[in-house]
Amino acid sequence: MARISEQSIEKTRQAADIVEVVSGYVDLKQRGRNFLGLCPFHSDTKPSLTVSPEKQIYKCFSCNAGGNAFQFVMEMESIEFPDAVQKLADSFNITLEITGGDSKKFKDLKSQLLEIHELASSYYEENLFSDKNKNALSYLTERDLSLETIKKFKLGFAPDSLDDLLQLLRKKNFSAEAMKASGLFISTEKGHINRFRSRIMFPVQNQKGNIIAFGGRIFNKDDSAKYLNSPDTPIYLKSHVLYGINHNQESIRQKKEVILLEGYMDLLQLAQAGIDHCLAISGTAFTDGHAVILKRLKSNVYITFDGDEAGKKAAIRCGYILKSNSLSNLKIVTPPNEMDPDDWIRKDGKENFENELKNAETLIKTHYNYFSSINEDGSLDANNFIQECLTEIININDPIIKELMAKEISELTGVDQKSIMYVLNERISKQPKKYKPQEFEKQVENNPILTNNSFSLKLYDDLIRLCFVKEKNIRELIFENLNPDWILSNIHKDIYDVVYIHLKATDHPPISVIAEQIADKKTRQKAIDLTFDIEKFKPQFIMAIDCLVRIEQFILNQEVEKLREKLKHSSDIDILNQLSSIEKNIERISEKYHEQ
Ligand code: CTP
Ligand code: MN
Repeated sequence: MARISEQSIEKTRQAADIVEVVSGYVDLKQRGRNFLGLCPFHSDTKPSLTVSPEKQIYKCFSCNAGGNAFQFVMEMESIEFPDAVQKLADSFNITLEITGGDSKKFKDLKSQLLEIHELASSYYEENLFSDKNKNALSYLTERDLSLETIKKFKLGFAPDSLDDLLQLLRKKNFSAEAMKASGLFISTEKGHINRFRSRIMFPVQNQKGNIIAFGGRIFNKDDSAKYLNSPDTPIYLKSHVLYGINHNQESIRQKKEVILLEGYMDLLQLAQAGIDHCLAISGTAFTDGHAVILKRLKSNVYITFDGDEAGKKAAIRCGYILKSNSLSNLKIVTPPNEMDPDDWIRKDGKENFENELKNAETLIKTHYNYFSSINEDGSLDANNFIQECLTEIININDPIIKELMAKEISELTGVDQKSIMYVLNERISKQPKKYKPQEFEKQVENNPILTNNSFSLKLYDDLIRLCFVKEKNIRELIFENLNPDWILSNIHKDIYDVVYIHLKATDHPPISVIAEQIADKKTRQKAIDLTFDIEKFKPQFIMAIDCLVRIEQFILNQEVEKLREKLKHSSDIDILNQLSSIEKNIERISEKYHEQ
Protein backbone atom coordinates (compact mmCIF):
# COMPACT_ATOMS: atom_id res chain seq x y z
CA MET A 1 0.00 0.00 0.00
CA ALA A 2 1.32 3.39 -0.87
CA ARG A 3 2.19 5.83 1.88
CA ILE A 4 2.19 9.57 2.22
CA SER A 5 5.73 10.83 2.71
CA GLU A 6 6.71 12.28 6.09
CA GLN A 7 7.63 15.58 4.44
CA SER A 8 4.18 15.89 2.92
CA ILE A 9 2.53 15.18 6.24
CA GLU A 10 4.74 17.80 7.87
CA LYS A 11 3.91 20.32 5.14
CA THR A 12 0.20 19.71 5.65
CA ARG A 13 0.59 19.94 9.41
CA GLN A 14 2.26 23.34 9.01
CA ALA A 15 -0.36 24.65 6.61
CA ALA A 16 -3.53 23.34 8.23
CA ASP A 17 -4.05 25.92 10.94
CA ILE A 18 -6.26 24.44 13.66
CA VAL A 19 -8.46 27.51 13.90
CA GLU A 20 -9.15 27.47 10.17
CA VAL A 21 -9.77 23.73 10.16
CA VAL A 22 -12.19 23.77 13.10
CA SER A 23 -13.94 26.85 11.71
CA GLY A 24 -14.91 24.76 8.71
CA TYR A 25 -17.27 22.85 11.00
CA VAL A 26 -17.96 25.04 14.00
CA ASP A 27 -18.53 28.77 14.52
CA LEU A 28 -15.60 30.00 16.59
CA LYS A 29 -15.30 33.21 18.55
CA GLN A 30 -12.05 34.58 19.89
CA ARG A 31 -11.74 34.66 23.68
CA GLY A 32 -8.35 35.92 24.79
CA ARG A 33 -5.61 33.80 23.31
CA ASN A 34 -8.01 30.95 22.45
CA PHE A 35 -11.12 30.43 20.33
CA LEU A 36 -14.40 29.07 21.62
CA GLY A 37 -17.31 27.26 19.97
CA LEU A 38 -20.00 24.63 20.45
CA CYS A 39 -18.40 21.22 20.68
CA PRO A 40 -19.51 18.98 17.77
CA PHE A 41 -18.68 15.79 19.66
CA HIS A 42 -21.43 16.00 22.26
CA SER A 43 -24.69 17.88 22.75
CA ASP A 44 -23.21 21.18 23.72
CA THR A 45 -25.33 24.09 24.86
CA LYS A 46 -22.71 26.52 26.00
CA PRO A 47 -19.47 26.74 24.07
CA SER A 48 -17.07 24.22 25.60
CA LEU A 49 -14.80 23.59 22.63
CA THR A 50 -11.59 25.55 23.04
CA VAL A 51 -9.05 25.88 20.26
CA SER A 52 -5.51 27.04 20.92
CA PRO A 53 -3.81 28.59 17.87
CA GLU A 54 -0.49 28.67 19.73
CA LYS A 55 -0.47 24.99 20.55
CA GLN A 56 -2.43 23.99 17.46
CA ILE A 57 -4.75 21.78 19.49
CA TYR A 58 -8.40 21.67 20.49
CA LYS A 59 -10.00 20.54 23.69
CA CYS A 60 -13.58 20.25 24.88
CA PHE A 61 -13.88 21.11 28.55
CA SER A 62 -17.11 19.19 28.78
CA CYS A 63 -16.69 15.90 26.93
CA ASN A 64 -12.90 15.84 26.98
CA ALA A 65 -12.46 15.46 23.23
CA GLY A 66 -9.06 16.73 22.20
CA GLY A 67 -6.29 16.52 19.63
CA ASN A 68 -4.68 18.32 16.72
CA ALA A 69 -6.05 19.34 13.32
CA PHE A 70 -5.67 15.87 11.79
CA GLN A 71 -7.47 14.29 14.68
CA PHE A 72 -10.26 16.83 14.57
CA VAL A 73 -10.95 15.91 10.95
CA MET A 74 -10.62 12.18 11.67
CA GLU A 75 -13.23 12.44 14.41
CA MET A 76 -15.57 14.71 12.49
CA GLU A 77 -15.57 12.65 9.33
CA SER A 78 -15.00 9.21 10.89
CA ILE A 79 -11.98 8.72 8.67
CA GLU A 80 -8.48 7.36 9.11
CA PHE A 81 -5.27 9.35 9.45
CA PRO A 82 -4.17 9.15 5.78
CA ASP A 83 -7.60 10.28 4.63
CA ALA A 84 -7.54 13.19 7.06
CA VAL A 85 -4.11 14.22 5.75
CA GLN A 86 -5.42 13.96 2.19
CA LYS A 87 -8.49 16.02 3.00
CA LEU A 88 -6.53 18.80 4.68
CA ALA A 89 -3.90 18.74 1.95
CA ASP A 90 -6.67 19.23 -0.60
CA SER A 91 -8.20 22.14 1.27
CA PHE A 92 -4.84 23.85 1.77
CA ASN A 93 -3.65 23.18 -1.78
CA ILE A 94 -0.81 20.89 -0.95
CA THR A 95 0.18 18.12 -3.32
CA LEU A 96 0.99 15.01 -1.39
CA GLU A 97 3.98 12.94 -2.29
CA ILE A 98 3.16 9.26 -2.19
CA THR A 99 6.01 6.82 -1.64
CA GLY A 100 6.54 3.07 -1.65
CA GLY A 101 4.16 0.40 -2.74
CA ASP A 102 4.77 -2.42 -0.39
CA SER A 103 4.44 -1.10 3.12
CA LYS A 104 2.23 -3.28 5.19
CA LYS A 105 -1.48 -2.88 5.22
CA PHE A 106 -3.07 -0.48 7.62
CA LYS A 107 -4.67 -2.93 10.02
CA ASP A 108 -5.79 -0.93 12.98
CA LEU A 109 -9.13 -1.42 14.68
CA LYS A 110 -11.03 0.99 12.46
CA SER A 111 -9.79 -0.51 9.19
CA GLN A 112 -10.70 -3.95 10.45
CA LEU A 113 -14.17 -2.76 11.41
CA LEU A 114 -14.72 -1.25 7.98
CA GLU A 115 -13.61 -4.48 6.34
CA ILE A 116 -15.89 -6.54 8.59
CA HIS A 117 -18.85 -4.37 7.61
CA GLU A 118 -17.97 -4.56 3.94
CA LEU A 119 -17.83 -8.37 4.07
CA ALA A 120 -21.02 -8.62 6.13
CA SER A 121 -22.83 -6.41 3.67
CA SER A 122 -21.75 -8.49 0.66
CA TYR A 123 -22.84 -11.59 2.50
CA TYR A 124 -26.28 -10.12 3.24
CA GLU A 125 -26.63 -8.99 -0.37
CA GLU A 126 -25.75 -12.40 -1.69
CA ASN A 127 -28.39 -13.89 0.56
CA LEU A 128 -31.08 -11.51 -0.57
CA PHE A 129 -30.52 -12.65 -4.13
CA SER A 130 -30.17 -16.34 -3.39
CA ASP A 131 -32.98 -18.69 -4.31
CA LYS A 132 -33.72 -19.84 -0.83
CA ASN A 133 -34.49 -16.31 0.30
CA LYS A 134 -36.59 -15.22 -2.64
CA ASN A 135 -39.45 -14.35 -0.27
CA ALA A 136 -37.33 -11.63 1.25
CA LEU A 137 -36.62 -10.17 -2.17
CA SER A 138 -40.26 -10.34 -3.18
CA TYR A 139 -41.18 -8.58 0.03
CA LEU A 140 -39.09 -5.61 -1.08
CA THR A 141 -40.31 -5.62 -4.68
CA GLU A 142 -43.89 -5.87 -3.46
CA ARG A 143 -43.21 -2.76 -1.45
CA ASP A 144 -42.46 -1.17 -4.83
CA LEU A 145 -38.71 -1.03 -4.55
CA SER A 146 -37.02 -1.61 -7.90
CA LEU A 147 -34.05 -3.93 -8.26
CA GLU A 148 -32.04 -0.88 -9.18
CA THR A 149 -32.83 0.83 -5.88
CA ILE A 150 -32.23 -2.37 -3.93
CA LYS A 151 -28.81 -2.72 -5.51
CA LYS A 152 -27.90 0.94 -5.30
CA PHE A 153 -28.52 0.98 -1.54
CA LYS A 154 -26.98 -2.48 -1.12
CA LEU A 155 -29.99 -3.91 0.69
CA GLY A 156 -29.53 -7.42 1.97
CA PHE A 157 -30.96 -10.24 4.00
CA ALA A 158 -29.65 -11.78 7.22
CA PRO A 159 -30.85 -15.41 7.26
CA ASP A 160 -32.39 -16.92 10.37
CA SER A 161 -29.11 -18.38 11.52
CA LEU A 162 -27.35 -18.08 14.85
CA ASP A 163 -23.84 -17.95 13.52
CA ASP A 164 -23.47 -18.08 9.74
CA LEU A 165 -21.89 -14.63 9.57
CA LEU A 166 -19.82 -15.32 12.64
CA GLN A 167 -18.37 -18.46 11.09
CA LEU A 168 -17.66 -16.69 7.84
CA LEU A 169 -15.80 -13.81 9.48
CA ARG A 170 -13.87 -16.07 11.85
CA LYS A 171 -12.09 -17.51 8.83
CA LYS A 172 -10.71 -14.07 7.99
CA ASN A 173 -8.38 -13.59 10.95
CA PHE A 174 -9.82 -10.38 12.32
CA SER A 175 -8.76 -9.63 15.85
CA ALA A 176 -11.11 -10.71 18.62
CA GLU A 177 -11.29 -7.07 19.66
CA ALA A 178 -12.50 -6.04 16.20
CA MET A 179 -15.09 -8.81 16.02
CA LYS A 180 -16.45 -7.77 19.40
CA ALA A 181 -16.38 -4.07 18.64
CA SER A 182 -18.23 -4.52 15.34
CA GLY A 183 -21.57 -4.81 17.15
CA LEU A 184 -22.62 -7.52 14.69
CA PHE A 185 -22.57 -10.21 17.37
CA ILE A 186 -24.13 -10.48 20.76
CA SER A 187 -22.91 -12.47 23.67
CA THR A 188 -25.26 -15.09 25.13
CA GLU A 189 -24.92 -17.91 27.60
CA LYS A 190 -24.09 -20.19 24.68
CA GLY A 191 -21.39 -17.84 23.40
CA HIS A 192 -21.49 -15.26 20.64
CA ILE A 193 -24.26 -15.28 18.04
CA ASN A 194 -25.32 -13.06 15.15
CA ARG A 195 -27.14 -9.90 16.23
CA PHE A 196 -29.20 -9.77 13.04
CA ARG A 197 -31.29 -12.85 12.31
CA SER A 198 -34.11 -13.10 9.81
CA ARG A 199 -33.97 -9.43 8.97
CA ILE A 200 -34.00 -7.29 5.85
CA MET A 201 -30.73 -5.40 6.09
CA PHE A 202 -30.14 -1.72 5.40
CA PRO A 203 -26.42 -0.87 5.40
CA VAL A 204 -25.66 2.57 6.83
CA GLN A 205 -22.89 4.30 4.92
CA ASN A 206 -20.74 7.29 5.85
CA GLN A 207 -20.05 10.23 3.55
CA LYS A 208 -17.41 8.29 1.69
CA GLY A 209 -19.71 5.33 1.18
CA ASN A 210 -18.02 3.04 3.70
CA ILE A 211 -20.48 0.81 5.47
CA ILE A 212 -20.34 1.61 9.16
CA ALA A 213 -23.49 0.04 10.62
CA PHE A 214 -26.73 -1.77 9.79
CA GLY A 215 -30.40 -1.40 10.43
CA GLY A 216 -32.41 -4.61 10.17
CA ARG A 217 -36.18 -4.96 9.69
CA ILE A 218 -37.75 -8.14 10.99
CA PHE A 219 -38.93 -10.50 8.26
CA ASN A 220 -41.08 -13.61 8.58
CA LYS A 221 -40.50 -14.01 12.25
CA ASP A 222 -42.10 -12.88 15.48
CA ASP A 223 -40.05 -10.29 17.20
CA SER A 224 -41.11 -7.37 19.30
CA ALA A 225 -38.52 -5.10 17.71
CA LYS A 226 -39.59 -4.20 14.19
CA TYR A 227 -36.22 -2.59 13.58
CA LEU A 228 -32.92 -3.44 15.16
CA ASN A 229 -29.88 -1.24 14.67
CA SER A 230 -26.15 -1.58 15.21
CA PRO A 231 -25.02 -0.20 18.56
CA ASP A 232 -22.53 2.66 18.69
CA THR A 233 -19.08 1.39 17.77
CA PRO A 234 -15.67 2.98 17.13
CA ILE A 235 -16.80 3.68 13.55
CA TYR A 236 -20.46 4.51 14.21
CA LEU A 237 -21.88 7.16 16.47
CA LYS A 238 -25.61 6.86 15.90
CA SER A 239 -26.41 10.37 17.01
CA HIS A 240 -24.03 11.79 14.39
CA VAL A 241 -25.01 9.81 11.32
CA LEU A 242 -27.77 10.37 8.79
CA TYR A 243 -28.84 7.62 6.41
CA GLY A 244 -28.40 8.32 2.72
CA ILE A 245 -25.65 10.92 3.04
CA ASN A 246 -23.24 9.21 0.63
CA HIS A 247 -25.78 9.06 -2.19
CA ASN A 248 -27.56 12.33 -1.59
CA GLN A 249 -25.06 14.90 -0.33
CA GLU A 250 -24.24 16.23 -3.79
CA SER A 251 -27.83 16.81 -4.69
CA ILE A 252 -28.49 18.47 -1.33
CA ARG A 253 -25.58 20.84 -1.79
CA GLN A 254 -26.74 21.74 -5.30
CA LYS A 255 -30.36 22.31 -4.39
CA LYS A 256 -29.43 23.90 -1.05
CA GLU A 257 -32.36 21.98 0.33
CA VAL A 258 -32.63 18.85 2.38
CA ILE A 259 -35.67 16.77 3.24
CA LEU A 260 -35.31 15.15 6.61
CA LEU A 261 -37.13 11.82 7.05
CA GLU A 262 -37.61 9.28 9.80
CA GLY A 263 -37.08 5.88 8.21
CA TYR A 264 -34.99 3.86 5.79
CA MET A 265 -38.00 2.96 3.67
CA ASP A 266 -39.08 6.60 3.40
CA LEU A 267 -35.70 7.57 2.03
CA LEU A 268 -35.53 4.69 -0.45
CA GLN A 269 -38.98 5.38 -1.80
CA LEU A 270 -38.33 9.10 -2.25
CA ALA A 271 -34.93 8.48 -3.81
CA GLN A 272 -36.50 6.03 -6.23
CA ALA A 273 -39.10 8.61 -7.18
CA GLY A 274 -36.27 11.00 -8.05
CA ILE A 275 -36.38 13.07 -4.89
CA ASP A 276 -32.81 12.53 -3.93
CA HIS A 277 -32.05 15.47 -1.67
CA CYS A 278 -33.17 13.66 1.46
CA LEU A 279 -31.63 12.12 4.57
CA ALA A 280 -33.14 9.87 7.23
CA ILE A 281 -32.46 9.79 10.95
CA SER A 282 -32.99 6.05 11.31
CA GLY A 283 -32.85 4.30 14.58
CA THR A 284 -32.70 7.11 17.10
CA ALA A 285 -34.22 10.46 18.00
CA PHE A 286 -32.98 13.61 16.32
CA THR A 287 -29.94 15.00 18.14
CA ASP A 288 -27.64 18.01 18.14
CA GLY A 289 -25.14 15.76 16.40
CA HIS A 290 -27.51 15.45 13.45
CA ALA A 291 -28.00 19.21 13.49
CA VAL A 292 -24.25 19.63 13.05
CA ILE A 293 -24.36 17.56 9.86
CA LEU A 294 -27.29 19.54 8.46
CA LYS A 295 -25.53 22.79 9.32
CA ARG A 296 -22.49 21.71 7.36
CA LEU A 297 -24.66 21.10 4.30
CA LYS A 298 -25.74 24.75 4.43
CA SER A 299 -29.23 23.94 3.17
CA ASN A 300 -32.80 24.79 4.05
CA VAL A 301 -34.41 21.94 5.91
CA TYR A 302 -37.81 20.36 5.28
CA ILE A 303 -38.82 18.11 8.13
CA THR A 304 -41.08 15.41 6.70
CA PHE A 305 -41.76 12.86 9.41
CA ASP A 306 -44.65 10.43 9.67
CA GLY A 307 -48.17 11.87 9.73
CA ASP A 308 -49.17 10.03 12.90
CA GLU A 309 -49.27 11.52 16.38
CA ALA A 310 -45.73 10.40 17.24
CA GLY A 311 -44.35 11.71 13.96
CA LYS A 312 -46.00 15.11 14.40
CA LYS A 313 -44.59 15.51 17.88
CA ALA A 314 -41.14 14.36 16.79
CA ALA A 315 -41.14 16.85 13.90
CA ILE A 316 -41.85 19.77 16.24
CA ARG A 317 -39.17 18.59 18.68
CA CYS A 318 -36.71 18.28 15.81
CA GLY A 319 -37.57 21.78 14.65
CA TYR A 320 -36.73 23.27 18.03
CA ILE A 321 -33.47 21.35 18.21
CA LEU A 322 -32.50 22.74 14.82
CA LYS A 323 -33.37 26.27 15.91
CA SER A 324 -31.34 25.93 19.09
CA ASN A 325 -28.45 24.99 16.82
CA SER A 326 -28.97 28.25 14.94
CA LEU A 327 -30.42 26.46 11.94
CA SER A 328 -33.34 28.73 11.31
CA ASN A 329 -34.31 28.02 7.71
CA LEU A 330 -36.65 25.16 8.27
CA LYS A 331 -40.18 24.17 7.37
CA ILE A 332 -42.34 21.23 8.30
CA VAL A 333 -44.44 19.08 5.96
CA THR A 334 -46.95 16.71 7.52
CA PRO A 335 -48.16 13.79 5.38
CA PRO A 336 -51.98 13.52 5.39
CA ASN A 337 -54.05 10.73 6.97
CA GLU A 338 -51.32 9.52 9.27
CA MET A 339 -49.33 8.23 6.30
CA ASP A 340 -45.56 8.11 6.28
CA PRO A 341 -43.60 9.61 3.37
CA ASP A 342 -43.14 6.10 1.95
CA ASP A 343 -46.92 5.47 1.73
CA TRP A 344 -47.59 9.02 0.71
CA ILE A 345 -45.32 9.22 -2.31
CA ARG A 346 -46.47 5.81 -3.53
CA LYS A 347 -50.09 6.86 -3.22
CA ASP A 348 -50.01 10.44 -4.45
CA GLY A 349 -46.81 10.60 -6.51
CA LYS A 350 -43.80 12.81 -6.83
CA GLU A 351 -45.52 15.87 -8.22
CA ASN A 352 -47.97 16.10 -5.36
CA PHE A 353 -45.13 15.65 -2.90
CA GLU A 354 -43.18 18.48 -4.48
CA ASN A 355 -46.22 20.74 -4.41
CA GLU A 356 -46.73 19.99 -0.74
CA LEU A 357 -43.14 21.03 -0.08
CA LYS A 358 -44.13 24.45 -1.37
CA ASN A 359 -46.96 24.56 1.18
CA ALA A 360 -44.68 23.57 4.03
CA GLU A 361 -45.28 25.48 7.23
CA THR A 362 -43.04 27.11 9.76
CA LEU A 363 -42.21 25.45 13.03
CA ILE A 364 -44.37 27.80 15.09
CA LYS A 365 -47.34 27.40 12.72
CA THR A 366 -47.01 23.62 12.82
CA HIS A 367 -46.77 23.71 16.59
CA TYR A 368 -49.84 25.97 16.65
CA ASN A 369 -51.83 23.62 14.41
CA TYR A 370 -50.85 20.62 16.49
CA PHE A 371 -51.71 22.40 19.71
CA SER A 372 -55.17 23.42 18.47
CA SER A 373 -55.85 19.93 17.11
CA ILE A 374 -55.68 18.57 20.66
CA ASN A 375 -58.97 20.29 21.53
CA GLU A 376 -61.73 18.73 19.50
CA ASP A 377 -63.37 22.06 18.72
CA GLY A 378 -60.04 23.44 17.55
CA SER A 379 -60.00 26.13 20.21
CA LEU A 380 -56.67 27.13 21.60
CA ASP A 381 -55.64 28.21 25.04
CA ALA A 382 -53.26 30.96 23.95
CA ASN A 383 -51.49 31.24 27.26
CA ASN A 384 -50.71 27.55 27.46
CA PHE A 385 -49.57 27.52 23.87
CA ILE A 386 -47.23 30.46 24.42
CA GLN A 387 -45.80 28.90 27.56
CA GLU A 388 -45.21 25.62 25.74
CA CYS A 389 -43.37 27.44 22.94
CA LEU A 390 -41.31 29.42 25.42
CA THR A 391 -40.21 26.23 27.16
CA GLU A 392 -38.45 25.36 23.91
CA ILE A 393 -37.36 28.86 22.92
CA ILE A 394 -35.53 29.24 26.24
CA ASN A 395 -32.89 26.90 24.81
CA ILE A 396 -32.21 29.08 21.81
CA ASN A 397 -29.26 31.41 22.10
CA ASP A 398 -29.55 33.40 18.90
CA PRO A 399 -31.45 36.61 19.76
CA ILE A 400 -32.67 37.16 16.20
CA ILE A 401 -34.16 33.67 15.95
CA LYS A 402 -35.86 34.24 19.32
CA GLU A 403 -37.33 37.57 18.21
CA LEU A 404 -38.61 36.17 14.94
CA MET A 405 -40.32 33.31 16.71
CA ALA A 406 -41.87 35.63 19.26
CA LYS A 407 -43.15 37.76 16.39
CA GLU A 408 -44.79 34.77 14.79
CA ILE A 409 -46.40 33.66 18.04
CA SER A 410 -47.67 37.18 18.46
CA GLU A 411 -49.25 37.17 14.99
CA LEU A 412 -50.93 33.83 15.61
CA THR A 413 -52.27 34.56 19.07
CA GLY A 414 -52.78 38.30 19.00
CA VAL A 415 -50.65 38.71 22.11
CA ASP A 416 -48.23 41.62 21.91
CA GLN A 417 -44.71 40.56 20.93
CA LYS A 418 -43.26 42.71 23.71
CA SER A 419 -45.24 40.79 26.32
CA ILE A 420 -44.03 37.52 24.88
CA MET A 421 -40.42 38.69 24.97
CA TYR A 422 -40.95 39.96 28.50
CA VAL A 423 -42.19 36.59 29.71
CA LEU A 424 -39.41 34.84 27.84
CA ASN A 425 -36.75 36.97 29.50
CA GLU A 426 -38.41 36.52 32.89
CA ARG A 427 -38.28 32.78 32.44
CA ILE A 428 -34.69 32.86 31.28
CA SER A 429 -33.64 34.87 34.32
CA LYS A 430 -35.46 32.53 36.68
CA GLN A 431 -34.04 29.45 35.04
CA PRO A 432 -31.90 27.56 37.50
CA LYS A 433 -28.30 27.57 36.36
CA LYS A 434 -27.71 24.30 34.64
CA TYR A 435 -25.78 22.20 37.06
CA LYS A 436 -23.33 19.81 35.56
CA PRO A 437 -21.99 17.24 37.95
CA GLN A 438 -18.26 17.21 37.80
CA GLU A 439 -17.31 14.19 35.79
CA PHE A 440 -14.50 12.52 37.53
CA GLU A 441 -12.31 10.96 35.01
CA LYS A 442 -12.40 7.25 35.15
CA GLN A 443 -8.82 6.17 35.00
CA VAL A 444 -8.60 2.96 33.07
CA GLU A 445 -6.36 1.32 35.53
CA ASN A 446 -5.98 -2.27 36.51
CA ASN A 447 -3.51 -1.49 39.17
CA PRO A 448 -5.14 -1.79 42.61
CA ILE A 449 -2.38 0.28 44.19
CA LEU A 450 -3.43 3.19 42.05
CA THR A 451 -7.18 2.84 42.22
CA ASN A 452 -6.86 3.23 45.98
CA ASN A 453 -4.43 6.04 45.75
CA SER A 454 -5.62 9.12 43.93
CA PHE A 455 -2.76 11.02 45.48
CA SER A 456 -0.22 9.16 43.36
CA LEU A 457 -2.27 9.78 40.23
CA LYS A 458 -2.02 13.47 40.94
CA LEU A 459 1.72 13.13 41.21
CA TYR A 460 1.84 11.48 37.81
CA ASP A 461 -0.32 14.28 36.41
CA ASP A 462 2.23 16.77 37.68
CA LEU A 463 5.07 14.73 36.31
CA ILE A 464 3.57 14.75 32.81
CA ARG A 465 2.93 18.48 32.99
CA LEU A 466 6.53 19.04 34.02
CA CYS A 467 7.66 17.14 30.94
CA PHE A 468 5.94 19.74 28.73
CA VAL A 469 7.20 22.95 30.33
CA LYS A 470 9.45 25.36 28.52
CA GLU A 471 12.09 25.28 31.28
CA LYS A 472 14.70 22.97 29.87
CA ASN A 473 16.46 22.40 33.23
CA ILE A 474 13.29 20.92 34.66
CA ARG A 475 12.82 18.57 31.74
CA GLU A 476 16.45 17.49 31.94
CA LEU A 477 16.09 16.84 35.64
CA ILE A 478 13.31 14.40 34.85
CA PHE A 479 15.22 12.83 31.99
CA GLU A 480 18.17 12.18 34.23
CA ASN A 481 16.43 11.03 37.39
CA LEU A 482 13.16 9.39 36.58
CA ASN A 483 13.06 5.66 36.19
CA PRO A 484 10.14 5.05 33.80
CA ASP A 485 9.24 1.92 35.75
CA TRP A 486 8.15 4.18 38.56
CA ILE A 487 5.16 5.23 36.50
CA LEU A 488 2.62 2.63 37.55
CA SER A 489 -0.28 4.22 35.71
CA ASN A 490 -0.46 2.97 32.13
CA ILE A 491 -2.03 6.08 30.74
CA HIS A 492 0.74 8.30 32.17
CA LYS A 493 3.39 5.82 31.14
CA ASP A 494 2.13 5.87 27.55
CA ILE A 495 2.28 9.66 27.45
CA TYR A 496 5.72 9.66 29.01
CA ASP A 497 7.01 7.22 26.41
CA VAL A 498 6.10 9.65 23.65
CA VAL A 499 7.32 12.85 25.30
CA TYR A 500 10.53 11.28 26.59
CA ILE A 501 12.65 11.98 23.51
CA HIS A 502 11.75 15.67 23.71
CA LEU A 503 12.88 16.18 27.27
CA LYS A 504 16.36 17.36 26.33
CA ALA A 505 15.27 19.53 23.41
CA THR A 506 15.77 23.29 23.58
CA ASP A 507 12.14 24.08 22.87
CA HIS A 508 9.28 22.73 24.89
CA PRO A 509 7.76 19.55 23.46
CA PRO A 510 5.28 20.20 20.61
CA ILE A 511 1.95 19.18 22.11
CA SER A 512 0.12 18.92 18.80
CA VAL A 513 2.72 16.58 17.29
CA ILE A 514 2.82 14.47 20.42
CA ALA A 515 -0.97 14.22 20.49
CA GLU A 516 -0.77 12.91 16.94
CA GLN A 517 1.59 10.14 17.99
CA ILE A 518 -0.75 8.86 20.67
CA ALA A 519 -3.07 6.41 18.99
CA ASP A 520 -5.26 5.64 21.97
CA LYS A 521 -8.01 8.23 22.25
CA LYS A 522 -8.27 8.25 26.04
CA THR A 523 -4.56 8.62 26.45
CA ARG A 524 -4.47 11.43 23.93
CA GLN A 525 -7.30 13.24 25.67
CA LYS A 526 -5.46 12.90 28.93
CA ALA A 527 -2.32 14.39 27.36
CA ILE A 528 -4.27 17.33 25.97
CA ASP A 529 -6.10 17.75 29.24
CA LEU A 530 -2.87 18.00 31.20
CA THR A 531 -1.15 20.37 28.83
CA PHE A 532 -3.84 22.61 27.38
CA ASP A 533 -3.22 25.35 29.92
CA ILE A 534 0.40 24.54 30.49
CA GLU A 535 1.43 28.20 30.48
CA LYS A 536 -0.65 28.77 33.60
CA PHE A 537 1.38 26.11 35.32
CA LYS A 538 4.29 28.01 36.81
CA PRO A 539 6.81 25.32 37.61
CA GLN A 540 9.80 25.84 39.78
CA PHE A 541 12.82 23.63 39.83
CA ILE A 542 12.22 22.78 43.46
CA MET A 543 8.71 21.67 42.66
CA ALA A 544 10.01 19.25 40.06
CA ILE A 545 12.43 17.82 42.61
CA ASP A 546 9.61 17.44 45.07
CA CYS A 547 7.52 15.59 42.51
CA LEU A 548 10.34 13.16 41.69
CA VAL A 549 11.07 12.60 45.38
CA ARG A 550 7.46 11.80 46.16
CA ILE A 551 7.12 9.44 43.23
CA GLU A 552 10.19 7.54 44.28
CA GLN A 553 9.04 7.51 47.89
CA PHE A 554 5.70 6.18 46.80
CA ILE A 555 7.36 3.32 44.94
CA LEU A 556 9.65 2.48 47.81
CA ASN A 557 6.79 2.63 50.27
CA GLN A 558 5.00 0.04 48.20
CA GLU A 559 8.07 -2.16 48.58
CA VAL A 560 8.10 -1.56 52.31
CA GLU A 561 4.50 -2.59 52.60
CA LYS A 562 5.09 -5.76 50.67
CA LEU A 563 8.01 -6.68 52.91
CA ARG A 564 6.04 -5.94 56.05
CA GLU A 565 3.29 -8.17 54.78
CA LYS A 566 5.86 -10.95 54.32
CA LEU A 567 7.17 -10.41 57.81
CA LYS A 568 3.79 -11.25 59.21
CA HIS A 569 4.34 -14.81 58.08
CA SER A 570 8.06 -15.22 58.58
CA SER A 571 10.87 -13.70 60.54
CA ASP A 572 13.50 -14.13 57.87
CA ILE A 573 16.43 -11.91 58.71
CA ASP A 574 16.92 -11.15 55.03
CA ILE A 575 13.57 -9.43 54.88
CA LEU A 576 14.44 -7.36 57.89
CA ASN A 577 17.68 -6.27 56.28
CA GLN A 578 15.99 -5.36 53.04
CA LEU A 579 13.43 -3.41 54.95
CA SER A 580 15.91 -1.35 56.84
CA SER A 581 17.92 -0.67 53.71
CA ILE A 582 14.85 0.57 51.85
CA GLU A 583 13.83 2.72 54.75
CA LYS A 584 17.25 4.33 54.74
CA ASN A 585 16.91 4.90 51.03
CA ILE A 586 13.61 6.64 51.52
CA GLU A 587 15.22 9.05 53.93
CA ARG A 588 18.00 9.77 51.50
CA ILE A 589 15.94 10.32 48.39
CA SER A 590 15.74 14.03 48.72
CA GLU A 591 19.38 14.42 49.75
CA LYS A 592 20.44 12.95 46.46
CA TYR A 593 18.93 15.91 44.61
CA HIS A 594 20.37 18.53 46.87
CA GLU A 595 23.83 17.20 46.35
CA GLN A 596 23.55 17.70 42.61
N1 CTP B 1 -36.98 2.49 14.08
C1 CTP B 1 -36.09 1.83 14.91
N2 CTP B 1 -36.53 0.93 15.82
C2 CTP B 1 -37.86 0.64 15.92
C3 CTP B 1 -38.77 1.30 15.10
C4 CTP B 1 -38.29 2.22 14.18
O1 CTP B 1 -34.91 2.06 14.82
N3 CTP B 1 -38.26 -0.28 16.80
C5 CTP B 1 -36.45 3.47 13.12
C6 CTP B 1 -36.12 2.81 11.82
O2 CTP B 1 -34.99 3.45 11.30
C7 CTP B 1 -37.31 3.11 10.96
C8 CTP B 1 -37.74 4.46 11.47
O3 CTP B 1 -37.41 4.45 12.84
O4 CTP B 1 -36.97 3.16 9.60
C9 CTP B 1 -39.19 4.73 11.28
O5 CTP B 1 -39.96 3.78 11.98
P1 CTP B 1 -41.38 3.30 11.47
O6 CTP B 1 -42.14 4.46 10.96
O7 CTP B 1 -41.97 2.45 12.54
O8 CTP B 1 -40.97 2.31 10.33
P2 CTP B 1 -41.07 2.46 8.76
O9 CTP B 1 -39.88 3.18 8.26
O10 CTP B 1 -42.38 2.99 8.37
O11 CTP B 1 -40.88 0.94 8.36
P3 CTP B 1 -41.89 -0.02 7.65
O12 CTP B 1 -42.57 0.80 6.61
O13 CTP B 1 -40.99 -1.06 7.10
O14 CTP B 1 -42.81 -0.56 8.66
MN1 MN C 1 -43.61 2.60 6.77
